[in-house]
Amino acid sequence: MFSRWLLLLSLTASTLVSAAEPVTFNKDVAPLVYSRCAPCHHEGGIGPFPLLSYEDVRKHAAQIVRVTQSRYMPPWPPDPRSADFVGDRHLTAAQIQLIADWVKAGHPEGADRPAPAPPTFSNQWQMGPPDLVLRMPEPFSLPASGPDLFRNFVIPADLQDIRYVRGFELRLTNKRAVHHANVVLDRTQSLRRRDREDGHPGFPGMDVTTEAAPNDFDPDSHFLFWKPATVIQPEPADMSWRIDPGTDLILNLHLQPTGKPEQIQAEIGLYFTGQPPTKHPMLIQLEHDGALRIPPGARAFTVEDHLTLPVDVDLLAIYPHAHYLGKVIEAWATLPNGSRRSLIRIPDWDINWQATYDYREPIYLPKGTTVAMRISYDNSAANIRNPNSPPILVEGGNRSQDEMGHVWLQVLPRTAAGGEDGRWALQQASMERRLQKYPDDFLAHYNLGAFQQSAGKLDEAARSYRQALHLDGKNATVRNSLGTVLMQQDRFPEAIQQLQDALRLDPQYLNARFNLGRSLAATGDLTGAEAQFTQLLAAKPDDGPAQQALASIYLAEKRYEPALQHLKAAAQLNPSDADLQGNLGALLAMTGDLPAAIHAFETALKLNPDQPVARKNLDRARAQLARASR
Ligand code: HEC
Repeated sequence: MFSRWLLLLSLTASTLVSAAEPVTFNKDVAPLVYSRCAPCHHEGGIGPFPLLSYEDVRKHAAQIVRVTQSRYMPPWPPDPRSADFVGDRHLTAAQIQLIADWVKAGHPEGADRPAPAPPTFSNQWQMGPPDLVLRMPEPFSLPASGPDLFRNFVIPADLQDIRYVRGFELRLTNKRAVHHANVVLDRTQSLRRRDREDGHPGFPGMDVTTEAAPNDFDPDSHFLFWKPATVIQPEPADMSWRIDPGTDLILNLHLQPTGKPEQIQAEIGLYFTGQPPTKHPMLIQLEHDGALRIPPGARAFTVEDHLTLPVDVDLLAIYPHAHYLGKVIEAWATLPNGSRRSLIRIPDWDINWQATYDYREPIYLPKGTTVAMRISYDNSAANIRNPNSPPILVEGGNRSQDEMGHVWLQVLPRTAAGGEDGRWALQQASMERRLQKYPDDFLAHYNLGAFQQSAGKLDEAARSYRQALHLDGKNATVRNSLGTVLMQQDRFPEAIQQLQDALRLDPQYLNARFNLGRSLAATGDLTGAEAQFTQLLAAKPDDGPAQQALASIYLAEKRYEPALQHLKAAAQLNPSDADLQGNLGALLAMTGDLPAAIHAFETALKLNPDQPVARKNLDRARAQLARASR
C-alpha cells in the first residue's frame, strides 16, 4: 500500500513541476541533445550538421521533432523491449514528448539558467595511446559520388611475438566516408594475394571469409566491429584475443561517397595485455543463405534457422546481418522448459545502422536450448532501400547486390564437468546442422573435415575432404588440407599427389608448397624438397618455418655452409625460440665458429634455462675454445 502511495505522489510531483516550469533548452533539451545526438552531430562527426548550441538545435527544431517522433533519430534499430543492450540509445516516449513540447512552446532558451557546456570531441584515441598502431599500407581513393563501396584492406601486423589484445580502436582521416568497419584476422595470409587484384589498394567485397588455421577457433570468437560514435569497450581481462607473428588484419570498410573525392586512410590502434585469455567465447552462426532466392515483388520472403545447444552457454553478444532487402530480423531462444525468450528484434532493418550488440547482462542458455532466427525480406518496389528498380530476382552472396541473412551469437560455453572444452561440441553441432541444411554443400563437408582433423579423426577427415573434392575438384585449399591429413597418416606419396595438384591449381599457394617440401623430404627426395623450399623463400624470404626446413635439408646433405645461413635466418625471424638458438649453436660449433656458438647457447639458455643439452654443449664449446687459445 505504502509504495503505491509513493508512486502516486511522485507522479503528481513531476506533473506539477512540468506544469509549473516550462520546458527550456538550457534546463531540459540541451542535456538530452548533448548526450544523445552530439556524439554524431559535431564538426567532423558523421551527422550532417552539428547540434552543439542553442542556435544549432533551434535551426533544426521542426526537423528534430519529426525525426525523433518517427524514431529515425537517434539511430537505434532494435526494439528496446526485445532485449537489454549496452549503449542503448533509444529515447523514451517522455523524452520525445519533451522535445515536441519545447518546440511547440516556441523553443525557449531559458537563459535565466546558465547554458550547459557542450561536449567536446577530438580525434584522439579513446583508450589513450595504443600499444601498436597499424596503418593501411596506402590510402584508398574514394570517388566523389557513386554507390557505396565495400572494400577490404590487408594490413600485416608484423609482430615478433604472440600478443594478446584487450581492445582496438579505429582512427580515420574522414569519419563521414566510413560507415562502419570490421576487422578480420587472417592467420594464414590467405587474402594477401587478393590485394590490388583490380589495380587499387585492397579488394572489393561486402563480407570476407579467410582460410582458418586448423585447430583454431580464433579469429571467430570476437566481434571486431567498429562504428563511428560508439564508445569503445575493452574486452574483459580474461577474454583477450590473440595476434600471432604473420597474422594479417583485414580491415573491411563500408565506404560512402561524400560529394568530394576522399583519400581514405585508417589506423588501427591495438591495446595489448600480458594476460592470455582464460575464457574462450565462440561464435555461432544462424543462417540459411542457401534458401535465399527472393522473387521480384516479394514483400515478406522469409528464411529461418535454428540450433540446439549441446552445452550450457552464456550469451554475450549478438550480430544480425542482412543487406539492403532485409526488413525484420528476430532471434529468440526456446529453453528446455519450453519458455521462450527474445534475443533481439529489429523491426525495420537498415544496413547502414548495422552493429554488434552486447547484452548488458549475459543470458544463460542451458544445454538443450534451441536458438532460432527469422529474417524477412522486402524485394518490392515499395522498399525504398531496394537497389534494383524494377526489382529483380536476388540470391545469396557476398556482393552488395546479393542478399545475406545471418545472426551471429557470441557465446561463452560453461565448462562441463571434467573441464572439457564446450567449443568442440558446439562446433560439431553447428556442422551437423549445416549438413542438414546443405547435404551437398562443399563448405559443410570441408568444415566438417577440418573439425574432424582437429579432433584427430584422420580417416573421417580424409573422407570429408574427398567428399568436398567430389563437389569441387578445383579447390586448392581442400587438396592442401587433404594433403596434410595424408601426411599425418604417413601416406606421403598420396600426399605429394594432392599437394602437387593444389599447386597446379594455384602456383602461389605457399602453404601447399611448404607441405609438399616436407612430404618430399619425408620420402627421401631431398633435392625435390630443396627446390620447393627455395622457391617458397624466393616468394617469401621471411618465412621462418621454411628457412628452418631448408636448413635441415642442407644439414641432412652435410652442406653445412648453406645450412648455417638458413638456420641463422630462421633464428633471426624467431629470436625467442630457445630450441632454434640451441640448434644454431650446435651447427656453429660444428662449423668451427666457437665464439658465435657460445653466444647462441647462452641466448638459448637465457630464453629457457631448463635445457640440459644446450648447457652441456655450452660447457663443451667453452672448454674447446679454452683449449684452442692455449
Ligand atoms: C549514431 C550517430 C547519430 C546519432 C546518435 C544521431 N544522429 Fe542524427 N543523423 C546521423 C546521420 C549519419 C545522419 C545523416 C544520414 C541520415 O539521414 O540517415 C543524421 C541525420 C539527422 C537529421 C536529418 C534527417 C533528414 O531527414 O535529413 C536530423 C534532423 C537528425 N539527424 C537529428 C538527430 C537528433 C535530434 C539526434 C538525437 C536525438 C540524432 N540525430 C542522433 C547520425 C546520428
